Amino acid sequence: MIHAFGALADAGAEIADKNNFQDTIKTSLHLLLGSLGIMRGGIARYSRYESEMTMIAIRGLGEEFPLALGLCYEDERQFRQNGTYPIEVSQAKVLPFFQVYDRSLENAKVELVVPLVIRGEMLGAVFLGEKASGEAYNSYDREIIRAMSRHIGVAISHRMLLAELERKAEENRKLYDEMRLTYKDTVRAFAAAIDSKDKYTEGHSVRVGKYTEIIASELGWSDDEVEGAAVAGYLHDVGKLTVERKIINAPYRINAKESSELNRHPSVGYEILLPIHHPYSDVPLAAKYHHERLDGRGYPEGLYDREIPYIAKIVNLADSFDAMTTDRPYKRRRPPKEVFDDLTRNAGKQFAPELVSALFRGILREAAGENTEKRFRRLLGREYMETEGLIPMLKSSLNNIGGVQSISVISLD
Ligand SMILES: [Fe+2]
Repeated sequence: MIHAFGALADAGAEIADKNNFQDTIKTSLHLLLGSLGIMRGGIARYSRYESEMTMIAIRGLGEEFPLALGLCYEDERQFRQNGTYPIEVSQAKVLPFFQVYDRSLENAKVELVVPLVIRGEMLGAVFLGEKASGEAYNSYDREIIRAMSRHIGVAISHRMLLAELERKAEENRKLYDEMRLTYKDTVRAFAAAIDSKDKYTEGHSVRVGKYTEIIASELGWSDDEVEGAAVAGYLHDVGKLTVERKIINAPYRINAKESSELNRHPSVGYEILLPIHHPYSDVPLAAKYHHERLDGRGYPEGLYDREIPYIAKIVNLADSFDAMTTDRPYKRRRPPKEVFDDLTRNAGKQFAPELVSALFRGILREAAGENTEKRFRRLLGREYMETEGLIPMLKSSLNNIGGVQSISVISLD
């Protein structure tokens, strides 16, 4: 008997997953029947929403026994009041439940019904048939039945709480995902708004977002960090929204006054982005410092290497790379060799060398067919990526920067 109680107590801990729960309830029924020598029985779980009890474990009650039993309000109220005391079927005819299921209970030889009431809540019921010995249930049996039923009730209660918790967690996850999507959409819409101001650089912000994302992932950043980096790229030029359209689109070299107006855009962008709650905190800093250079010759503050936030260095490279590889009012886009040479030459001056390496590595991995996502192909065009000698060019550039060591996947001969 004590063993049976111990086993029931252990069962409570094993209900964490749904399948375990089913097994636990079945085991509980067998323990209860076995420990008192009861011929047959069953356990039902009650759903308040459906006003119905569903059998979740059954033994020897016969095929005719209903698997779902309806309960009216009066039944539920009485059961709740009764608590886990065993109810003698033969003496409980007043309740609608016993009138409705009179025949079924009789055919199945059910003698006792024990409502499972935990903390005043009706959770189900245990149905018990006759004892194998043919004796009537005595008060000692009833005490045991009551105690064991409480264990079963607690197991059901835990399972229901857990299911509710899982449902809420799932709901929260969905809400979070939706919010993330909304945020992403908003960011993209902003990027499109920024780009629409500049007729020569259509899609620039979006591309910078994507290059930033690629460089961050080449650096081995986590998914969240990569996503944050992409946002920083998308929004880096948001300050341009306040710069006059004619300055941005000037088809001539702008004068000093216009230039200082244009050069305000990093600080203005920072001011715009700062009050917004970003899931990634560096977004405003990326806007503010994306025109700084390692050698201190950038703007607005002329910061040196270590003073520049890392994300701003990435965006700066992505920004420059896009400027070199797209057509501008006076300039056609530059061929790969020139772009790679320029970036290599400026590694350590304008750009952080390891970032240039990361960018080259990304292109190289795609050109060599190691990365099949075709991200650069979509951004630069197929022709550009199929330039003759692209792979050796990249390898030699990587060699010159000293970034070759970090490539382990591609063998460089
Ligand atoms: Fe900019």
